[in-house]
Amino acid sequence: MSLKTLVQKSLKSFSFAPTGALSHGAASHGAAANGSAAFSPAQFDADVMTTYGRFPIALTKGRGCFVWDDQGRRYLDFVAGIATCTLGHAHPAMVETVTQQIQTLHHVSNLYYVPEQGALAHWLVEHSCADRAFFCNSGAEANEGAIKLARKYAHTRRGIANPLIITAQASFHGRTLATVTATGQPKYQKNFDPLMPGFAYVPYNDIAALEALVAELDAETPQVAAIMLEALQGEGGVCPGDAAYFQRIRQICDEKDILLILDEVQVGMGRTGSLWGFENLGIEPDIFTSAKGLAGGIPIGALLCKAACAVFEPGDHASTFGGNPFACRVGLTVCETLLAENLLDNVKQRGEQLRLGLQQLVRQYPTLLEQVRGWGLINGLVLQPEVAIASVDIVKAAMGEGLLLVPAGPRVVRFVPPLNVSADEVQQALVGVEKAIATVIKRQSL
Ligand SMILES: Cc1ncc(COP(=O)(O)O)c(C=O)c1O
Repeated sequence: MSLKTLVQKSLKSFSFAPTGALSHGAASHGAAANGSAAFSPAQFDADVMTTYGRFPIALTKGRGCFVWDDQGRRYLDFVAGIATCTLGHAHPAMVETVTQQIQTLHHVSNLYYVPEQGALAHWLVEHSCADRAFFCNSGAEANEGAIKLARKYAHTRRGIANPLIITAQASFHGRTLATVTATGQPKYQKNFDPLMPGFAYVPYNDIAALEALVAELDAETPQVAAIMLEALQGEGGVCPGDAAYFQRIRQICDEKDILLILDEVQVGMGRTGSLWGFENLGIEPDIFTSAKGLAGGIPIGALLCKAACAVFEPGDHASTFGGNPFACRVGLTVCETLLAENLLDNVKQRGEQLRLGLQQLVRQYPTLLEQVRGWGLINGLVLQPEVAIASVDIVKAAMGEGLLLVPAGPRVVRFVPPLNVSADEVQQALVGVEKAIATVIKRQSL
């Protein structure tokens, strides 16, 4: 046995005891109860790159809107893999599809027709303004595809030699070099320069700034190929787009043959109570992207566009895994279940219930909380700017109450539960977050 294996074996015998007063029960659901080996965070940290600041729990099982850690502690999951587990955990329809498809055919090359890919593309085209789909594996990859498509359109249809794409400050589009450049947040770009050329930024929801930038960039010769935005900025702090702003952008794009790209990675697939986030704004994009919730947690990404800008030809773009039978079959199941279980209505009703409850907390704790904002089941509880508490403090305290939440920047606590969350579970979350707030306030003697 090698030294490395010996060290790994001995580290495995340490079990992971999270800090904090986690008092919630249902121990029989834990991994240890399932008979799996004790998890070692030390070994994990030795082996896995430290790209995440992780919370000190290890999740090992999920059912519906609940997950369990390796100590058997139960948490109400209002993170859902960050707006990804559309149908929660272990949904019977997903379990059945995954089981069937893995036994049938899970992967083949895109050198052949893939019927499951065609079926998912057809569903998406039927249920959106798009005419064509391309499949990949993540949100960043879908956005990369959108950037390539917009650049090719600018080169081949408009004769633009150096196309520019305008994105918004505080946006988030992914971590690849092109999408991190598109992301209008310097903290994600630091130390990764040289960044990609061809991007310019404007403040979000500010039409005067956008009009001025387009006029400036196109002053001598047209350069602006696309405007790429989120219908609601998720990572940037749960900031909903303004309908009048987006409608004016649509006009500008139509007038100048600029492509409007909507990044629907976080807000698409029903999260806002409409199937696509842009439906809340009364506009249609030329191109949009989806990922996260599209297959409920099985990796997938999709780039969708109208026929008029579907300029990719064989050889222009590709992906080994993208659009394989497994991911697409699961994606189709999630899409069909979303409609069959009437989840868009549930998102609207539960979202309203959640916002009303959170607004009550804002009234109750005005020195700590400023406002609630969001659509459907993507909501942010915004902290007062001057208070010495960060969103992560509330997230940690909520974890102690058996509730998983996620920050959206330092001042916003984000609530993105599965779309089939029940009224009772929303009520439990409100109780949990109130207890967390009380704990944080007591600790800080506010
Ligand atoms: C709006 C938006 N776009 C793109 C991404 C990147 O997606 P992925 O992590 O799947 O690459 C995210 C991820 O949070 C996102 O919220």
